[in-house]
Amino acid sequence: MDKPKVVLGVSGGIAAYKACELLRRLTESGHDVRVVPTESALHFVGAATWSALSGHPVATEVWNDVHEVPHVRIGQGADLVVVAPATADTLARAAHGLADDLLTNTLLTARCPVVFAPAMHTEMWEHPATRENVATLRRRGAVVIEPAVGRLTGVDTGKGRLPDPGEIFEVCRRVLTRGAAEPDLAGRHVVISAGGTREPLDPVRYLGNRSSGKQGYALARTAVARGARVTLIEANTGLPDPAGADVVSVGTAVQLREAVLRAAADADVVVMAAAVADFRPAAYAPGKIKKRDGQEPEPVALVRNPDILAEVSAGRARPDQIVVGFAAETDDVLANGREKLRRKGCDLLVVNEVGERRTFGSEDNEAVVLGADGTETPVPHGPKEALADTVWDLVSPRLG
Ligand SMILES: Cc1cc2nc3c(=O)[nH]c(=O)nc-3n(C[C@H](O)[C@H](O)[C@H](O)COP(=O)(O)O)c2cc1C
Repeated sequence: MDKPKVVLGVSGGIAAYKACELLRRLTESGHDVRVVPTESALHFVGAATWSALSGHPVATEVWNDVHEVPHVRIGQGADLVVVAPATADTLARAAHGLADDLLTNTLLTARCPVVFAPAMHTEMWEHPATRENVATLRRRGAVVIEPAVGRLTGVDTGKGRLPDPGEIFEVCRRVLTRGAAEPDLAGRHVVISAGGTREPLDPVRYLGNRSSGKQGYALARTAVARGARVTLIEANTGLPDPAGADVVSVGTAVQLREAVLRAAADADVVVMAAAVADFRPAAYAPGKIKKRDGQEPEPVALVRNPDILAEVSAGRARPDQIVVGFAAETDDVLANGREKLRRKGCDLLVVNEVGERRTFGSEDNEAVVLGADGTETPVPHGPKEALADTVWDLVSPRLG
């Protein structure tokens, strides 16, 4: 079988060097990559690097190898075009349909999915001109990955950093897998909670659970690839930030509740994949609880934590907001799931069986997605990413 053909557009931002890592990931995972840098990009990384790493000639203008009509052929033959980093200038030229170099010609002739990974200073990213250009590109079906927050060129920090190349690769992989499917979550804001809360007993100990956060992260990554704006509220996962997601880190159930309610205010979809502790210690000892000779430990009194899923479902920010819950059950899985769906009032409930060696921390999952409308969708054993896509397949037609 022919290798999937990827065009890697590189524009003239300081993060151009990170595209070398993206290029490596793409080639090493069996993609045929053609790099099309802009003239400015070559100030940062030279043509020799792109050519040697990709195994293809490199040009910035339409005037090289004219007999092969590269300004048309490269775009026509591509299965995916990814522009990383995408400068404010390249986003503007793409949004306005300019064709003044090989990359913009390629963008006009490509009929495959297109991913932009913008990187620039926060002021450039927030400028109304850039905002409008990004909105135009998204409206036309491109996946524009939100930049990360962090250190920028020089000493300043803020939103505008190129996400980790490995995570951009993950978005590309998923977009390629979806093929010609439209980014059906474009223009939607989805809020996803992931991980497990920790309820402190004293400064060194907590009550926790075994949730790794991998299912929530799979939901975030697949939602980005389907065009959504994603807010990921993570509790104690230690996982790398998915490209394109705004990540909010919390520790306890009470903190998770605050973060979810704040983000849900303008969300189209809220997915509660985090394992939230039902109870927390009634008291927090400000100093480490000591073991005393001859004394039995004091029992730990617990109080109930807020029921975030029920609260989000009952107090929807908008009547058409879709709320998805997760139920981890150890016995009577389906019966407990149906009862929980009624009690919580959510639209969809993903029910899975958990145990010490099942689901938690693993790469795979198996579940049944129950709908408030009576539907039951079994999802066979497979990668957490497949379950995530099934959830979005069920959410997408329910969106107003
Ligand atoms: C050191 C340096 C770093 C730059 N970094 C960025 C950047 O990260 N993002 C951006 O949009 N522009 C950046 N620019 C400005 C672009 O290089 C400039 O707008 C250029 O015209 C972009 O051309 P291109 O879009 O054709 O690559 C930088 C310029 C310099 C000199």
